[in-house]
Amino acid sequence: MTDTADTRPLTGAIPSDGSALGLAGYHRSGGYEGAAKALREMTPDGIRDEVTKAGLRGRGGAGFSTGRKWGFLPRQDGGQRYLVVNGDEMEPGTFKDRVLLEGNPHQLIEGMVISAFAIQASQAIIFLRGEYTLAAQRLAVALAEATDAGFVGGNLLGTGYDLEIQLHSSAGRYICGEETALLTSLEGKRAIPRAKPPFPQTSGLWGCPTVVNNVETLCNVPHIVRNGSAWYRSLSCGEDGGTKIYGVSGRVKRPGAWELPMGTTVREILEEHAGGMQDGYRLRGLLPGGASTEFLTADQLDVAMDFGSVEKAGSRLGTGTMIILDDRTCPVGMLLNLEHFFAQESCGWCTPCRDGLPWIERMLEAIENGEGRPEDLDLLAMHVDLLGPGKTFCALAPGAMEPLGSGLKHFRADFERHIAEGRCPWRQ
Ligand SMILES: Cc1cc2nc3c(=O)[nH]c(=O)nc-3n(C[C@H](O)[C@H](O)[C@H](O)COP(=O)(O)O)c2cc1C
Ligand code: SF4
Repeated sequence: MTDTADTRPLTGAIPSDGSALGLAGYHRSGGYEGAAKALREMTPDGIRDEVTKAGLRGRGGAGFSTGRKWGFLPRQDGGQRYLVVNGDEMEPGTFKDRVLLEGNPHQLIEGMVISAFAIQASQAIIFLRGEYTLAAQRLAVALAEATDAGFVGGNLLGTGYDLEIQLHSSAGRYICGEETALLTSLEGKRAIPRAKPPFPQTSGLWGCPTVVNNVETLCNVPHIVRNGSAWYRSLSCGEDGGTKIYGVSGRVKRPGAWELPMGTTVREILEEHAGGMQDGYRLRGLLPGGASTEFLTADQLDVAMDFGSVEKAGSRLGTGTMIILDDRTCPVGMLLNLEHFFAQESCGWCTPCRDGLPWIERMLEAIENGEGRPEDLDLLAMHVDLLGPGKTFCALAPGAMEPLGSGLKHFRADFERHIAEGRCPWRQ
């Protein structure tokens, strides 16, 4: 479900009947005006400066400045370079890119045209989650429309700039969302991350300079170019520029996704847009930005959902899509469910993650089934440290430890009760 508001720039044009916005409808809402302006009136450096000044930060989870990332490419030498769109979106609880892809595929294509021009790439690839078949169909139709209209292909709008866009559906692993594993997978190899440096901007797809950006990140670009960085910044009520697609899942009255000013508080998203908790359920905590973030608690509802504020509150904005923990759901069971996912999705390349995550899953399973021992809590805490930042080859394992470490802190009494009573108190 998606609420739209006509004052918002990003998803404002998404039809509310579940269909996709076609080229004619997209044109009526000012579509491709940003691409025409960028290609005809702006230089690649000028576009990058505008995007940097706008304060656009990557919406894939890490929040790196988009303009600065583009600036790390080596100076143009006429060689091949690539723009790759990360549409893998397998983070549990995250569904914001699907809304954009299914509802307004031309917006992504326009963002790709401008961004590829800004980095002087002549090839762009959309890497799409395998299960997103409706998005794939709609993107294919939109790509054909955009090619017929001269926005994709050779000599775009008569400017001499060429851009080919390909759509690639993933075979389906969470690790393919990690940008270097994504590139390795596109090259037809086993999807394992690469060491950084070199970063993709200097050596990416087939060793060529490559920028990987998230779907939502690129959907912001046409609006920044069309309306300017000052306008874009003014949309936000927080430190970072623009708007954000926030989402809520769990036992709320209206789970869904909404485009709101960046920096909207947890309380407004939860109570006004998601309608508050369902009758008979009380909020205990929430993962603010998908499964790989730390719990915020019910007394932190006034935290602004921007990168800096969520970090100060002890978690991460991540993907900005909250997962709610209510008082009738067992926190140990919830964590078991999440760690089962992460253990299953470990790519197996490094030992702490490959061996540690299944251990963690088994310990949680034992506690949930009433077979836990008091010392298991220290063992779990030790694993949170062993799989923490800097100890594994990529960020999958440290991400998996964020809900677990914070869950052990905030819901320790629940763990202890399982062990003391030899059963899950939430089970009949
Ligand atoms: C395990 C793992 C999974 C990830 N999955 C995604 C994903 O599905 N989509 C995404 O955009 N970024 C994902 N990322 C982050 C990407 O590595 C990368 O930071 C992002 O695509 C950069 O785009 P941005 O700068 O526009 O945010 C993932 C990272 C990790 C470690
Ligand atoms: S941390 Fe996990 S997913 Fe990342 S490289 Fe190591 S084994 Fe693979």
